[in-house]
Amino acid sequence: MSTIEQAVKRLEELRTAGVDVLWKPESAAEVAPAAPSPFATAPAGAVSAQPQAAPTQSTETAKRTAKPQDMGTRSKQVEIDLNKLAALGYIVPHATRSLLVDEFRVVKRPLLANVTGAASAKIDRPNLIMVTSSLPGEGKTFVAANLAMSIAAELNHTVLLVDADPSRSSLLERLGIAPAQGLIDKLLNPELDLSDLILATNVPKLAVLPVGTPNAQATELFASATMDLLLEEMAHRYRDRVIILDAPPLLPSAEARALSLHAGQILFVVQAGRTHQGTVQQSLGMLQDHPMVFTLLNQSRGPKAGSPYGYYAY
Ligand SMILES: Nc1ncnc2c1ncn2[C@@H]1O[C@H](COP(=O)(O)OP(=O)(O)O)[C@@H](O)[C@H]1O
Ligand SMILES: [Mg+2]
Repeated sequence: MSTIEQAVKRLEELRTAGVDVLWKPESAAEVAPAAPSPFATAPAGAVSAQPQAAPTQSTETAKRTAKPQDMGTRSKQVEIDLNKLAALGYIVPHATRSLLVDEFRVVKRPLLANVTGAASAKIDRPNLIMVTSSLPGEGKTFVAANLAMSIAAELNHTVLLVDADPSRSSLLERLGIAPAQGLIDKLLNPELDLSDLILATNVPKLAVLPVGTPNAQATELFASATMDLLLEEMAHRYRDRVIILDAPPLLPSAEARALSLHAGQILFVVQAGRTHQGTVQQSLGMLQDHPMVFTLLNQSRGPKAGSPYGYYAY
């Protein structure tokens, strides 16, 4: 059974158990079978359960011809090192179809349904999506970057990928972008304009906001009212844009908890075969009051492929 089929099965089990999942999968057979992954050496990516039709020819053609959109009037332009990303096993534009590409199509569907209002749940700031996990190294940056690439490939969505992990910032290095001013600088100097800090990239419809200049007060800054105002500004000023926060882990730091209070949707990453059940429970306990938490099992095609976790909403 493929990971997606397992997740569909898990979803159905959850639904039977009375858990209010966001959508109704039609049947596992409707999940488009994936071509062999070009990133075959990379561990598995995400699992999800939303059946997803293969894109039509016209959609694909339109994606290829899509022009970069305005990412802020004065955005600097930077180059994401797409060769490096592809070598690391990440999704890049025009990648041949792979299991990872298909899985992220499935992962983004319910998130985008909330952004566009197509889902029945009404939530505040649905375009502000926070990617977090319990501990460092569970794949938050991997998931945030792939989700951003996958959504940026959509016709209707532009994406702002935000490095919001000040203690273990790795997003820019992963993307091959030089360090630059960003979130922390804006929190310290509210007169800075976000447009000057947001970096337009060589990926159409994908912009990046760096975490900015390291600062010992980052935790306090992240928990501050200024941060709330900034996220409010980002969510509303760029209302048509999906904002993905590559956030810190929940357990070792207070920043992620503070951020979770402001994000409209949370994608909680669990690393298959590594994150302990008690750890997951502790983290989910921290998020229990949040209205829209999705759990994503990362690297589930490892030795514990039969793990009971799927991708579902609480
Ligand atoms: N599913 C995956 N497939 C391939 N590499 C992965 C996967 N998940 C994580 N990695 C790699 O594992 C390392 C740790 O993941 P990372 O995203 O940096 O974790 P975190 O942001 O939670 O600290 C990175 O080198 C990342 O590229
Ligand atoms: Mg990270």
